[in-house]
Amino acid sequence: MSQLSFQGPGAFRGPYAPPGDKSISHRAILFGALAEGESVYENFLEAEDCLHTLEAMRRMGIEIHHEKGTGKVRISGKGMHGLSAPGQELYLGNSGTSLRLLLGILAGQRFEAVLAGDPSLSGRPMRRVTDPLKRMGAQIKGRENGNFAPLTIRGGKLRGIDFDNQLSSAQVKSALLLAGMYAENRTLIREAIPSRDHTERFLEAAGAPFQKFGHDLVIEKTEMLLPMRARVAGDISSAAFFIAGAAMVSGSEVTLQDVGLNPTRTGLLEVLKRMGAKIETQVTQTIPEPMGNIHVRGAKLKGTGITPQEIPSLIDELPVLMVAMALAEGESLISGAAELRVKETDRIHSMVVNLKRLGASIDELPDGALIRGVEEFHGATVESFGDHRTAMSMGVASLAAKGTITVMDTACMATSYPAFMEHFRRLLKS
Ligand code: S3P
Repeated sequence: MSQLSFQGPGAFRGPYAPPGDKSISHRAILFGALAEGESVYENFLEAEDCLHTLEAMRRMGIEIHHEKGTGKVRISGKGMHGLSAPGQELYLGNSGTSLRLLLGILAGQRFEAVLAGDPSLSGRPMRRVTDPLKRMGAQIKGRENGNFAPLTIRGGKLRGIDFDNQLSSAQVKSALLLAGMYAENRTLIREAIPSRDHTERFLEAAGAPFQKFGHDLVIEKTEMLLPMRARVAGDISSAAFFIAGAAMVSGSEVTLQDVGLNPTRTGLLEVLKRMGAKIETQVTQTIPEPMGNIHVRGAKLKGTGITPQEIPSLIDELPVLMVAMALAEGESLISGAAELRVKETDRIHSMVVNLKRLGASIDELPDGALIRGVEEFHGATVESFGDHRTAMSMGVASLAAKGTITVMDTACMATSYPAFMEHFRRLLKS
């Protein structure tokens, strides 16, 4: 089993450019496949999750040119009805985004497909997507009434529905927007707390009949999508390890370049600033996705509360934020984050168990955690729980550790961030 040792303490210093955004890279492939003509992307994230989406589209007859290591992809889109039945099961590894978004597209196809994943993905709830897709007219079968992969889907004629996205899940919203492009009448999605809006931005850029009215999103039957050319913004969720790590350790100073600054994704920056972090951002691009540079200097942070309204904007950053909170002066409270329990692992549990091993003072709550800051961590052996973000967060914790943190089962880092260790070593100054 893979394992990594992180010798603490340390600080991050230097310039840093994060890899391409995972959410945007998935959507680049999906929209590229359905567009009419060639889409070209740079800085595509060459991580396992996004490569599963790419491979799935190839298996449905889409030609995709990808030179490994360059971040460049060229997708020869075949239009809204150009996909063909995959000869075999589509295996999506650990990737919830691949599975849920592909279900949305497959709901509109007149063939059958089987979608499968690794044990973690096969244990994650899917009825949040399969129930509304069935209401639209798709036929979906899987364990426990379509709640767990492997899932067999046969699409066809769909009707639009009204849907209240109470979980504020961008994956659910995106699946229904994608299916909505194939439905006879309009599909309306209401979202009280907005989740990441990358799919909406793709719909707009591709010329789809999509409109936003406050919290209501409306998609109508779509005849054609335009191909696109763009550079994928740097992933703020990957950058988060270096942002939080630099912010929480005095003596750190990191300048991040070309990071995605989509306001539906920047909750981490707001919370860290509230904790007293020294963070400055400079926006350099606004369309199709806001992007810019971030300058972070280390400081002693103070505890804060995170409200349920903030959760969707920092859902993937909570593990590393918990590390920063465990070192902040005073108390921090995370609430309204029950969704963390159904990620690649139960991230509330994985982080509480691991942080306790490092000497943190933290209580597990049903929907979050109560954390009282300590001065420093001690060395220990911790587990990734098979979860990339838990593993990388533990590496970051070593910056404040007196001793060595050994993280077990670290191969999962490649799910979203194959270059994590290379970047970590480059920025680490002991
Ligand atoms: C994602 C949405 C989020 C996030 C995931 C990627 C997306 O999941 O946690 O890493 O690309 O739409 P939920 O929509 O389930 O909250």
